[in-house]
Amino acid sequence: MPVTIVVGAQWGDEGKGRIVDFLAAASDAVARFGGGANAGHTVRVGVDTYKLSIVPSGAVAGKDCIIGPGTVVSPRQFVSEIETLRVAGVDTSRVWLSDLAHLILPYHIELDRRAEENRGSRALGTTGKGIGPAYVDRADRTGLRAGDLRDVARCASIIGQRCAQLAASGLEIDLFAEVSALESLAPKVLPHVRDTVAMLWQLLNDGKRVLAEGAQGTLLDVNFGSYPHVTSSVTVAGGACAGLGIGPKDIDNVLGVVKAYQTRVGAGPFPTELSGAAGERLRELGSEFGVVTGRPRRCGWLDLPALRYAARLNGLTHIALTKLDVLDSFDELRVCNDYLRRTDESMPFAMAEDPHPAYAELAGWRQPIGAARGWEDLPENARAYIEFIEAYVGVPVSYVSVGPERSQIVVRSGAPIVPIPAAA
Ligand code: IMP
Repeated sequence: MPVTIVVGAQWGDEGKGRIVDFLAAASDAVARFGGGANAGHTVRVGVDTYKLSIVPSGAVAGKDCIIGPGTVVSPRQFVSEIETLRVAGVDTSRVWLSDLAHLILPYHIELDRRAEENRGSRALGTTGKGIGPAYVDRADRTGLRAGDLRDVARCASIIGQRCAQLAASGLEIDLFAEVSALESLAPKVLPHVRDTVAMLWQLLNDGKRVLAEGAQGTLLDVNFGSYPHVTSSVTVAGGACAGLGIGPKDIDNVLGVVKAYQTRVGAGPFPTELSGAAGERLRELGSEFGVVTGRPRRCGWLDLPALRYAARLNGLTHIALTKLDVLDSFDELRVCNDYLRRTDESMPFAMAEDPHPAYAELAGWRQPIGAARGWEDLPENARAYIEFIEAYVGVPVSYVSVGPERSQIVVRSGAPIVPIPAAA
């Protein structure tokens, strides 16, 4: 059972990209199972920083990379990312796009923009990448898949039908522009398009180790997140099977990536949000600005009731705690350990009406931890912070990131994947 699923356990931006990049060194392939260019991964290797949106983080580590059937992909964005990586000297010949992945076309982006505009003060704060409208077309059975690019004339006819539908509802689309854009992009995309489901089965039959990379975070899941302030895809671990074409028995471990505090971009509930200077301090120390949109992220204390919910939903077997070093200078740390206003409603409803978070106070460690590579290198108070999380959530913290470099990760005993030599 060689698949490890990596999911975000909060509102996205937990640092999945750098964890996947780290674990990819000891894996054979990385497969992205959902979302699109709304995700942003930053991977730093030495002096080089790579910002990826749709290409899985494993590309930088030179692994087979699969963009699975559950994703939605803009051909333009895909070609531009491949080109950027190629110019940076990264081998992109092993980046594969599922022929079943749905395409985001310019009109999806326009529909996204208009929908947000129409929502007025109730705007969701989407990334504006056309994600929602592309998934709507998929469900409506009017979408195009990457494999359809093999026959651009057929694509033109499908786009024509969709344009007619949209014109009937008052949205005029420049059909010629849509089709000619596809004509010029198709030859650049097609060399990467293949049956990734068969490819994945072969990898698994050969006993290869695969990382299934999630996008966004659990609390943005279309079913289980803070609806309607969510993305349009399944972000929880269960989505890895449906989004890649594998079964639950292929899964070995589920790793939840958790930031040492809490952030969110876009609108929606955030019980532990810090306003004013305290929030600003976390934002500055953690460089909390969106990779995709550049928007400042909302910041707050770690929310353990929400994390426990995420741990159960995903069936987490391990946690990777990221950005612990951002808390280095705090005298005192707060961690939400209860919602005082309890309701019988499910978590997303409970969160939406201010649940009155209660906090535990923990002493800070007030020293830099960036050089730590082993558990014993971490200050006692940092270890106590981690152990507090483990005890509450009931899942071991197996990786702790203490800085942005690839090597700045503490790997604990019991970790499911131990890259060599980084874990030495
Ligand atoms: P959409 O996915 O662009 O439709 O945006 C829906 C919501 O999900 C918005 O609040 C976005 O800010 C949020 N979102 C989407 N992708 C990400 C991500 O990768 N990280 C954090 N938030 C995201």
